[in-house]
Amino acid sequence: MILINYLILFVISTSCAKTCNAVFVPHECIKNRAIAANYTPRGHVLYIGNLPVYEFEDENNQRTNRLLLGVYDIYGFAYQNLKQVIDEMAVQSGGFKVILPDFFRGESTNPEFNATERQQWLQRVGDWDSIVRPDLLSILEYYKTKGVMEFGIFGFCWGGKVATLTATHLSEEFKAAGIVHPSAVTNEEAVGVNIPMYLMPTRNDLDMMPFYEVLQAKFGSNCGHRRFDDMIHGFAGARGNFSDPLVQQRVNEVISTLGAFFDRNLNNSTNFAPNILHIFLVTITSFWVLG
Ligand SMILES: *[C@@H]1O[C@H](CO)[C@@H](O)[C@H](O)[C@H]1NC(C)=O
Ligand SMILES: *[C@@H]1O[C@H](CO)[C@@H](O)[C@H](O)[C@H]1NC(C)=O
Ligand SMILES: *[C@@H]1O[C@H](CO)[C@@H](O)[C@H](O)[C@H]1NC(C)=O
Ligand SMILES: *[C@@H]1O[C@H](CO)[C@@H](O)[C@H](O)[C@H]1NC(C)=O
Repeated sequence: MILINYLILFVISTSCAKTCNAVFVPHECIKNRAIAANYTPRGHVLYIGNLPVYEFEDENNQRTNRLLLGVYDIYGFAYQNLKQVIDEMAVQSGGFKVILPDFFRGESTNPEFNATERQQWLQRVGDWDSIVRPDLLSILEYYKTKGVMEFGIFGFCWGGKVATLTATHLSEEFKAAGIVHPSAVTNEEAVGVNIPMYLMPTRNDLDMMPFYEVLQAKFGSNCGHRRFDDMIHGFAGARGNFSDPLVQQRVNEVISTLGAFFDRNLNNSTNFAPNILHIFLVTITSFWVLG
């Protein structure tokens, strides 16, 4: 009887090994995806309470228990660029469910604002303690009930600040964080970070090497830094010029680099479903054989 069970287990394990390996798409195969100037998002918006959340998951995704949370810049949902980045993240690197929450609830910054006005507006619609942190907790709760077990976060400009705060204050819930042309992030903040991060400043941004050195001391080679010296702040965000071929190429590089980084770090749930399957089948066959 035990022998039969082991035999069945062996057959399941071998067939699973094949399926599981097929999930890992080699990064070389996906590098040349093109970011387009005119883009229609492929995902849909759902609501968690009164929080709109853009969500996209490729129909062939087999890693449904891991999720990447993208955080936009101060333009909110008003432009399609970031939804395109979200969609691309979802189909690359072996698969993720990827979301973009609308923390500002339909608002977008006014380009005419002066610095004070912008700050006041941001405080009203995107305060960490009263809005963003509670929203992140609701999102975690919602997706955990949907079976998600591993979470990563990445953000652009203002979203880079949010991802850094998350890496510091919600690090027990998120496994890794990526920041692209971050705003208002200081090198001193590296000290409080508790999870691996990938840093992507541009030529207009802070020199983040000191931040990176602190990360390296904490996480060794499982963190990253790339300074985009030929790109301006915001290139991958809402108002980036996705008609420019060089910008398209650099955005693709952001996606493939971050995708590989998250694929490495959100790596613990791969075999979870097959394990459940093993237990289930062993139980069933035991009853069947004994019965
Ligand atoms: C910003 O604009 C407000 C009016 O909306 C004005 O009162 C304030 O002085 C301006 N601040 C600066 C720094 O220009
Ligand atoms: C965007 O890039 C295209 C192609 O390089 C260029 O023709 C266009 O002027 C750019 N648009 C802006 C607003 O810079
Ligand atoms: C997940 O990736 C991290 C970082 O590369 C590594 O330290 C860890 O051993 C990996 N875990 C699994 C289960 O592959
Ligand atoms: C990996 O997943 C297993 C099974 O869900 C869990 O018990 C374990 O704590 C996880 N380990 C990490 C490092 O997340």
